[in-house]
Amino acid sequence: MEVIVQPTPPDAARMAATLVAKAIRRKPNLVLGLATGSTPLMLYGELIRMHREEGLDFHHVTTFNLDEYLGLPPNHPASYRRFMQENFFSHINLSPQRTFVPDGMTQDIHRHCHEYEDLIVSCGGIDIQILGIGSDGHIGFNEPTSSLASRTREKALTEQTRRDNARFFATLDEVPHNCLTMGIGTILASHQCLLLAFGPKKADVVAAAVEGPVTSMVPASALQFHADAKFIVDEPAAAKLKLRAYYDYVLAHNPG
Ligand code: GLP
Repeated sequence: MEVIVQPTPPDAARMAATLVAKAIRRKPNLVLGLATGSTPLMLYGELIRMHREEGLDFHHVTTFNLDEYLGLPPNHPASYRRFMQENFFSHINLSPQRTFVPDGMTQDIHRHCHEYEDLIVSCGGIDIQILGIGSDGHIGFNEPTSSLASRTREKALTEQTRRDNARFFATLDEVPHNCLTMGIGTILASHQCLLLAFGPKKADVVAAAVEGPVTSMVPASALQFHADAKFIVDEPAAAKLKLRAYYDYVLAHNPG
């Protein structure tokens, strides 16, 4: 686990975008796992800027999103497909047929989830998985007590997550109760994970995920089992980390 503390969210987003851009230049057909929520927006903004100003080419890139609300059609204003379309996909030169988001309207959940897993494998696995973190420690929509070996499946959202995400809907009642999400096992199978977290509200959960015990009560703590997981956080989100001085030392002495 590598913890990188940056002064501000734009600094953190630029660092994450630089890592993604380098990976795409090294491997043009990169398989990129994507997240929604407000946290990755600046990263997407920076990648869009790199595409426009520096010719970063997404033509051969494949993307897999972590999750989707069950029961929302792709054009629903709060669907994650629409979120990705508006905030990222429509601004770069990805091939639409290589952008995958779980289908919240699927009539056969079990089969769809299996096919999603198979598709990831058939593309060679996810090279870099972008992650945010929920205030309850969830990654994707893997709520506390999710199996650490779980694969793409249906999950029920906690009331806390529904309330946190109500800002994207007209009313709390409109927030779906269920979703489809890659599992923690799916996320752990990616070659590299980049988790971004900003702001004081994430400080407790970042500390629990990085320095606490591995527990399904804090699903992001499962990343301690990942061989290449980076937490890129801003100062307020780093505020509760006990080994902060050590992380800064490692970063300062890391030739990469
Ligand atoms: C949602 C998404 C998560 C995301 C989380 C945090 O629940 N399913 O993938 O990490 O929101 O959202 P935010 O970045 O807005 O804090």
